[in-house]
Amino acid sequence: MSDIVNVDYSTKIPNNVNLTEDRQVLRALEGWHPGYIDWWKTMGPNGFQEALVYLRTAVSVDPKGWAKFDYVKMPDYRWGILLAPHEEGRTIPFGQHYGKPAWQEVPGEYRAMLRRLVVIQGDTEPASVEQQRHLGKTAPSLYDMRNVFQVNVEEGRHLWAMVYILQKYFGRDGREEAEQLLQRRSGDPDKPRMLGAFNEATPDWLSFHMFTFFTDRDGKMQLESLAQSGFDPLSRTCRFMLTEEAHHMFVGETGIGRTVQRTCEAMKAAGVQDPGDIDKVRGLGVIDLPTMQKKLNLHYSLSLDLFGSEVSTNAANAFNASLKGRFQETKIEDDHKLENSTYPVLKLVDGEIKRVDEPALTAINMRLRDDYTADCQRGLDRWNKIIDRVGVSFRFQLPHVAFHRQIGEFRDVTASPSGELVDAATWERQKDKWLPSKDDGDFIQSLMRQVVEPGKFASWIAPPRVGIDNKPGDFEYVKLAA
Ligand SMILES: [Fe+2]
Ligand SMILES: [Fe+2]
Repeated sequence: MSDIVNVDYSTKIPNNVNLTEDRQVLRALEGWHPGYIDWWKTMGPNGFQEALVYLRTAVSVDPKGWAKFDYVKMPDYRWGILLAPHEEGRTIPFGQHYGKPAWQEVPGEYRAMLRRLVVIQGDTEPASVEQQRHLGKTAPSLYDMRNVFQVNVEEGRHLWAMVYILQKYFGRDGREEAEQLLQRRSGDPDKPRMLGAFNEATPDWLSFHMFTFFTDRDGKMQLESLAQSGFDPLSRTCRFMLTEEAHHMFVGETGIGRTVQRTCEAMKAAGVQDPGDIDKVRGLGVIDLPTMQKKLNLHYSLSLDLFGSEVSTNAANAFNASLKGRFQETKIEDDHKLENSTYPVLKLVDGEIKRVDEPALTAINMRLRDDYTADCQRGLDRWNKIIDRVGVSFRFQLPHVAFHRQIGEFRDVTASPSGELVDAATWERQKDKWLPSKDDGDFIQSLMRQVVEPGKFASWIAPPRVGIDNKPGDFEYVKLAA
């Protein structure tokens, strides 16, 4: 028996699921491996496949000390199958099957629904790698370059995690889905990725940090609710993925925090009082706060769409079937079946935005989205503290949930960031004040210059307070190929 905490690195595919004794699945994964490497080399970080990157690799699933740091060429990264340890006697924490022993095999009646959930989650993982593949060329420092590559290899591992579930538990259909995951491409009109936000471009580093803050956080919420699943292998897979996901959100939150810090300090030093004096602020070689607010409006609204419709039968079915639960389900005090409860949902009623009580079961997406919003707000509060501390008068705000939506209750209306419904003409007139304009994009692009001298940073971003793995400020996080 292999140890479930330590990872077996003797096989081609590192794992803690005893693959050496699971020949059929091992063969399926080994068959999939060359296609994955091919995908990584063509769609992974563009131009850095030979660089030595100071990466962490998971060596155990023990929350204390699961990672080991070393220089690795990305195509040699040991992508593995890692599940959180099996919990003896785990019972299903919600839905119709509440209280029964967690399933170790796919329940036949839910096969299609479960496969769909795994495929949708799986599709987002390679998509973000594709979206971020050009960023190395404009990295503001070696520290930041290393961070995007770390996120990328881990998203690659998350793809492996979902492919393992597909190949082990879904037979032939699972193998076909695994193949398809390597075929779709972010932003490709003919074979796009499955969800909207994962087909958008990530043109610059501010977008990347916003993406890892807002969109990876949607990922966190989805993983949190799948980690509650009655299907135990999925739950265990997602629980380990969440430990990696935490770093992605750290990269986003601190990336924006450092950008904010740098802008405020530059304004202070130059005696610029008004954050809205965009030309003056931009003249300092930093990104003005109102433009950051517009980027935030964009990424938050795109990420809200990932939660699906506020009122959803699919979500109700997945909850009822005990496949996908709520955020921190086991800490919630109720019947965990939602038989008679309601949940307040913002809806459009006779042309007005109103709060309406809906059956809690169909409002599952809304509830998860509310938990997400609260989690986002905490990050904004910390950025606002940075602004306060430097002594600039400006506050970031999350836009209203009706703002700039493509999915759900507000998809057919236009609303301002404060949630006021406006007509199409007003939207057209105002939208460049609410969302990044072409000019904003061009300006940000003009700052995106690669900085590769160890310990040096581009003009628009402050250095981090501490290094990765506690390395000193001038540590060479990436050794570029000669
Ligand atoms: Fe991921
Ligand atoms: Fe992530």
